[in-house]
Amino acid sequence: MTFSKRYNFAALTALLIALFSTVSMGIFLYVFFKFLSAWLLLFFLVSFLVSFLIVQYRVEKFIYFRIKKIYNDVRILNEKDFPKPSITTDMEVLTREVENYVNVKKLEIETLNVRENYRKEFMGNISHELKTPLFTVQGYILTLLDGAMKDKKVRKKYLQRANKGVERLIYIIKDLDMITKLEVGGLVLSKENFNIIEQVQNVFDLLEMKAAKKNISLVFDKEYTESILVYADRERIEQVLTNLLVNSLKYGKQDGTTEVSIENIIKNKVLVRVTDNGEGIAKEYLTRIFERFFRVDKSGSRKEGGSGLGLSIVKHIVEAHNEKIYVESQFGIGSEFSFTLEKGK
Ligand SMILES: Nc1ncnc2c1ncn2[C@@H]1O[C@H](COP(=O)(O)OP(=O)(O)OP(=O)(O)O)[C@@H](O)[C@H]1O
Ligand SMILES: [Mg+2]
Repeated sequence: MTFSKRYNFAALTALLIALFSTVSMGIFLYVFFKFLSAWLLLFFLVSFLVSFLIVQYRVEKFIYFRIKKIYNDVRILNEKDFPKPSITTDMEVLTREVENYVNVKKLEIETLNVRENYRKEFMGNISHELKTPLFTVQGYILTLLDGAMKDKKVRKKYLQRANKGVERLIYIIKDLDMITKLEVGGLVLSKENFNIIEQVQNVFDLLEMKAAKKNISLVFDKEYTESILVYADRERIEQVLTNLLVNSLKYGKQDGTTEVSIENIIKNKVLVRVTDNGEGIAKEYLTRIFERFFRVDKSGSRKEGGSGLGLSIVKHIVEAHNEKIYVESQFGIGSEFSFTLEKGK
């Protein structure tokens, strides 16, 4: 099928040329020499064969160079991707080849566009996020320069506030750094066996002061007398626990409770659950809280000094472990974040 198509054009052209020259030759011989012979048949065959070869060769060359030039110009294909032996006079094959290639490129362009939008949004968020503390710091410094520094009491207060702003900048940049690493995929997990109960207790201890400010109790759901080993990156999991527990304090109610439980789910997995009785998250936001920079109440969270990166870092880390994170929440009642971990041995 493709064979016949490939040579169709040349064969037909050669046939016409051969017919024309044979008939012309016949007429010429007859008119001038009154002579006709079966040799004309041979002449016909030879001229057909020769024309066929020439036409076929020329057409292939012609199309090959043309197409090659187009390909190079458009840069749809690299020259080396363009397989020379498959260049034929068969346009159908060629069209199919180009179509395939265009489809692949289209997909590539689409993903690039999505990524580009993502990047733009990311840059916008970062600059917005950095602007606020920067302007705060600048504000205090300018006021000090304007004369406030002569007053000893005001001087100290303003310097402390400026320092708060700088601390906030550092905090955001640290988070950004972490998230960039996670997203580039440069995060190498160093997994080990460790006792998750002990790890949770460590984070409880670290957050004791913070919890005391709102009189929130950080507790286990029951007494764990035996250790529960998990196989994971200890430092990263500490980060996950910290982010979740800090959230439960930030969005928790005065005198509330945050409870952590560790459950066996299937043979080789445990589920770590962090439950609070805080402000909760309205249903419409639940799907979005893991997005970078997403905060339910922008002004309220700002008071708490959040940048909306905490949960997206949590999600990245859990997913880097090939584990899952879940959230359930009822507005005004409380939230529950849980994630799976591989059991250790
Ligand atoms: N335990 C929770 N209870 C109620 N709302 C929560 C809870 N955890 C997260 N949220 C909501 O989800 C949003 C995103 O949380 P995330 O931890 O990503 O950001 P953040 O706490 O605002 O800032 P960051 O953690 O970067 O300092 C929060 O702003 C808050 O609105
Ligand atoms: Mg947070």
